[in-house]
Amino acid sequence: MLPLASFRLLLSLFTILPFKFPLLKSQHLPINSTRLLDSILQDYAFRPLFRHRPRTGVVYDGNVTPELTGITVSALRLRSGRLRRKGYFGYKEFDIPAGVFVSPYVARVVLVYENLGNWSEVYYPLPGYLYLSPVVGLLAYNATGVVAGVSPELDLRPSEDPILIKFESLRVLGNGVLPKCVFFDLFGGVEFNVVVNGSVCLGLKQGHFGVVVEENIPAPAPAPEKVPEIPVAVGGGRRQVGSNGWWVGGIVGGVVLVVVAVVVLVVLVAVRRWVRRRRVEKMECVAEGGGPLAVAAVGNALMPVAMGSRTKPVLENEFVS
Ligand SMILES: *[C@@H]1O[C@H](CO)[C@@H](O)[C@H](O)[C@H]1NC(C)=O
Ligand SMILES: *[C@@H]1O[C@H](CO)[C@@H](O)[C@H](O)[C@H]1NC(C)=O
Ligand SMILES: *[C@@H]1O[C@H](CO)[C@@H](O)[C@H](O)[C@H]1NC(C)=O
Repeated sequence: MLPLASFRLLLSLFTILPFKFPLLKSQHLPINSTRLLDSILQDYAFRPLFRHRPRTGVVYDGNVTPELTGITVSALRLRSGRLRRKGYFGYKEFDIPAGVFVSPYVARVVLVYENLGNWSEVYYPLPGYLYLSPVVGLLAYNATGVVAGVSPELDLRPSEDPILIKFESLRVLGNGVLPKCVFFDLFGGVEFNVVVNGSVCLGLKQGHFGVVVEENIPAPAPAPEKVPEIPVAVGGGRRQVGSNGWWVGGIVGGVVLVVVAVVVLVVLVAVRRWVRRRRVEKMECVAEGGGPLAVAAVGNALMPVAMGSRTKPVLENEFVS
């Protein structure tokens, strides 16, 4: 047991750590603080097992120190053979399917449950994300080793179906933002996954689970995601590839444009020349004695000229003459 004074010191250390070492990447957490918390919570979770004659398959809720009010812990003792054959459904948020095995082999296992409640953001800070659920943990220990004090975690893995973590109440979602499951392994690794059936996360290892949404940070956040689509904004090696592509595209486009322009120009010149030749021919025709055409011929009639064809009277005149 830790004396209260040193415990207080540890606690203050925990709460300071995340601020003293701001996370540069969301990929790594200061695992010291969370591992220390796990061992402290393991101690509190195990206590009821000593007090009662622990029965297998029964969930014992523990009490944590007042300094950690908001966190709840429980312990469940199981024969590992039975856990493997039947699983265990409804251990708080966790549905443990058949096929889960622990290694190295132990005859009896204690599964410790942690619910970090309002301490979730303190111990598992995720910059840029907002927790919609508390962080809950499932950790496996050697049940016979428990007597000796704090013992290391066993490896616990499902071999067939994943472990389900069914969060009962998620905090109200923001408009249109998709929640994600977040998983913290015991070594500081962070993984994101989809939420299934509205509030269920899938677990493939022991560790800590929660549901988060990305915080709506105005301008800077979405910009990097769009980078690959806008070659101008790409930095480093990609930029050269991108601008080379643009240059090649520009040259090809330019050549095509020039060819099209030349063709259009040639056609225009040809048409113009043809039109001019036609006009000259007409003028020659008129000059040769066609006379003023329809205007004079039709002019005698009082009828509107428009309906009568222009050529008809001209032709008659021509035939007559
Ligand atoms: C969590 O809530 C409890 C009261 O329910 C409070 O005593 C404790 O300080 C809170 N912890 C944090 C980290 O806010
Ligand atoms: C579990 O604990 C018992 C008692 O301390 C020990 O004999 C055994 O080797 C431990 N098993 C493992 C896999 O650590
Ligand atoms: C999701 O819901 C459907 C229908 O209720 C159920 O059949 C399925 O098993 C659920 N899946 C999970 C992973 O909870």
